[in-house]
Amino acid sequence: CGIVGYIGERDVVDVLLDGMRRMEYRGYDSAGMALLDGDRFEVVREIGRVAELEKVVLGRGLTGRLGIGHTRWATHGGVTVENAHPQSDGSGRFVLVHNGIIENYLDLKEELEAQGDQFLSQTDTEVVVHYLARLYSGDMLQALVELQKRLRGSYALVILRRDDPDGFFCVRRGSPLVLGSGEGENFCVSDVAALLPYTRKVLYLEEGDIAQVSRGGLRIWDEEGTVKVPPVHEVDWDVSMVDKGGYSHFMLKEINEQGAVVRSSLKGRIEGGRVDLSDELQWTAETVASWRSLHIVACGTSYYASLVAERALSRWTDLDVRVDIASEYRHRTVRTDAKTLAVFVSQSGETADTIAAQRVARGLGAHCLAITNVRGSTLAREVHDTLLLKAGPEIGVAATKTFMGQMSVLYLLALYLGRLRGGITAAEESRLVEELNQLPYKVEATVAREESLSELARIYAERRDFLFLGRGYSFPVALEGALKLKEISYVHAEGYAAGEMKHGPIALLDEKVPVITVIPRDSLYEKTLSNILEAKARKSPIIALGTDGDDLLKSYADHIITVPWTDEAFTPFLTVIPLQLFAYHVAKRRGCDIDKPRNLAKSVTVE
Ligand code: G6P
Repeated sequence: CGIVGYIGERDVVDVLLDGMRRMEYRGYDSAGMALLDGDRFEVVREIGRVAELEKVVLGRGLTGRLGIGHTRWATHGGVTVENAHPQSDGSGRFVLVHNGIIENYLDLKEELEAQGDQFLSQTDTEVVVHYLARLYSGDMLQALVELQKRLRGSYALVILRRDDPDGFFCVRRGSPLVLGSGEGENFCVSDVAALLPYTRKVLYLEEGDIAQVSRGGLRIWDEEGTVKVPPVHEVDWDVSMVDKGGYSHFMLKEINEQGAVVRSSLKGRIEGGRVDLSDELQWTAETVASWRSLHIVACGTSYYASLVAERALSRWTDLDVRVDIASEYRHRTVRTDAKTLAVFVSQSGETADTIAAQRVARGLGAHCLAITNVRGSTLAREVHDTLLLKAGPEIGVAATKTFMGQMSVLYLLALYLGRLRGGITAAEESRLVEELNQLPYKVEATVAREESLSELARIYAERRDFLFLGRGYSFPVALEGALKLKEISYVHAEGYAAGEMKHGPIALLDEKVPVITVIPRDSLYEKTLSNILEAKARKSPIIALGTDGDDLLKSYADHIITVPWTDEAFTPFLTVIPLQLFAYHVAKRRGCDIDKPRNLAKSVTVE
């Protein structure tokens, strides 16, 4: 979900709508806003996109200087106007918007119902605003300190009070909230992207913080109500990064930025032909020597980037490497201790499961490192160390360039650890670093082949099922290719280890099910080739994704897409690109909403 609050001299309706549009990728099944006009709230809520809300708000000619807005990704309660935010208390003294989940809302609701409160929605949010109204007796700070003692779960709340025309209050625990500081105007947003047109001066709220945002300034307290003065940060993103820049979709723009993403990920991290991360990671030789295992934990596309890196890390370091899905890791017994380096990979740094998994690992004594694209994110603030992606904001819900950035940074980490722990020879290291330096060009050359993927999409856009296969480094690429296709085009696609196909998926194959095989010229090439034959024998159309100049593939496949040669370990940087472009063009042909696929959200801040 996305939250924005504003007070200042601009028309609040413009600021809220603009902010909500920029955050729409966070959730878009309904949207709403509340303005404080004199001593009256104007509340508008609509099902669907921000554009629907905009029609109504502009149609009614609403305007003002103070208000809050919200785009929703439904958790508690279906997608209805009643369940959209803002929610208000029974008496109409408060309205609030909320991201996150209140775990004990049923208990609180019962308590309030016993006192006669009635509820109009199924949301946990309405319970919070009722509860706040009950606690309030003239002092907002006091009421919010009390409120937090009663709430369990995660929340970012922004609250308007009918009798307070000077601003609004916010509270944050477990869900992101950032304050923006301007001249005679101030903001509160759940995503920095919404601030960029107005200010780059931001203050990050910490767990439990309470803030008062007014025209003249920002005041912040901790959960006990003690004043605090957090530092003001300057964001290094600019507003052009959150515009489409001439592309028809953010996803296509972001696919095209991938060469630049690899380049900026490497910048300043390679010294004299060797990877050097010592500026960012102040690790002593003893600490590094003490680790025995390396856990990587992530969700979605970040998980697949981690699976790619697992292979490089196992090859170049002597650590025992394992990769887990965050929602599993957090709930299962894993041998995690002080001898573990635990790496949490999350584009947003706000994924609830990844954050929770980090807390588990940290509690067990692991040294925790975040790899994220968002400075100041919850994950980045909780870990011992952070490596930033430097990919710039990613707006398309389906991750593309951050996958590239994550692989880049994980590979730098692999080479750095390999050197520190002596798992890799100097000659091997310099050969790999040289190839790494070539990657941005090869990535760009691969993206430039878009036309052939558009053609392939023309042929296959109407198929209902796809199987994606790969071995070794190409197995996670197959998983990611299938994920991209299902996410944005709603076509069923399965990613499978090529060697495992005969243990199940082969039963699905016939002339209706195309098989896309990721088969660069690597050490497993011949084995994958035999899997292609198995699929071909079942009459599946074969699309082979191979290496330039591989003429042999022609006799095996119906369609061939190739990428430039690179070392086996780096092939995922190239082979993933045609799969991103294929998914993009299939979705486009099918008329799907590419940047905002149904039911998904860019960052999932609930369990
Ligand atoms: C959501 C997004 C995916 C993303 C995943 C993990 O499912 O739609 O694109 O890969 O979350 O997000 P994170 O921010 O932790 O990388």
